[in-house]
Amino acid sequence: MKVMFIGDIVGNTGRKAVKLLLPSLKQKYQPHIIIANAENAAGGRGVTEAIVREFANLGIHGFTMGNHTWDNRDIFEWIDDEKRLVRPANFPEGAPGQGFTTIKANGKELVIVNLQGRTFLPPIDCPFTVVDDILYSLGKKSQAILVDFHAEATSEKIAMGWHLDGRASIVVGTHTHVQTNDDTILPNGTAYLTDVGMVGSKEGVLGMEREAVLHKFKTQLPVRFVVDEGKWHFHAVVVEIDDATGRAIRIEKIRVREDEWIMC
Ligand code: FE2
Repeated sequence: MKVMFIGDIVGNTGRKAVKLLLPSLKQKYQPHIIIANAENAAGGRGVTEAIVREFANLGIHGFTMGNHTWDNRDIFEWIDDEKRLVRPANFPEGAPGQGFTTIKANGKELVIVNLQGRTFLPPIDCPFTVVDDILYSLGKKSQAILVDFHAEATSEKIAMGWHLDGRASIVVGTHTHVQTNDDTILPNGTAYLTDVGMVGSKEGVLGMEREAVLHKFKTQLPVRFVVDEGKWHFHAVVVEIDDATGRAIRIEKIRVREDEWIMC
């Protein structure tokens, strides 16, 4: 099976890019299952039920989140009923929603797991032991497993790749919004990429207006960040998995910039 994973979609600029690009990317890569990180989709912070529906209508089958999961307060009203969306599984016990789920589409099945790092992020439960527990509970039933490790530190993400090599089909990182160039298939068959990148403005800072971010860095005063509406860039990854073994066969990064897209 072929899986496409789209990096953090940031605000209306990112949503516009997804809407424009996805039809042709689907045609080109023919993914059976498409997953996206949606934690920045609503104004850069969190996601709404309407946006999940909008993405699902575009053909995205499952959603991962991260440290902005609770930023849209209305999520508490619907997250328990939204079975296509996962929030970090290592949030402390009692958090609403689910940390992993099975996505079924086009005759294929993929377990998606969301984890959050603890380096330069809030000290939540240990992602390494939590993912061990999840894999143990899944047993041998699930062949194809994708883990989105939403984390700040490259070291923590690389460590997770090694931790899961041969036990997950795909381990990708999100959160830093910058696509890394270390796509690889680890020795035991796990496709790995430290950060998939983002979908949103390339003219701001990680998708937000650069003036406000610069002001914050220069003055250390509290600043309200706003989604930048400049030209977009789109980052994703496509992984081919051997259905019989769950091992990754091929990994390919996708990077499209608005200027190139117009030229196409
Ligand atoms: Fe994040």
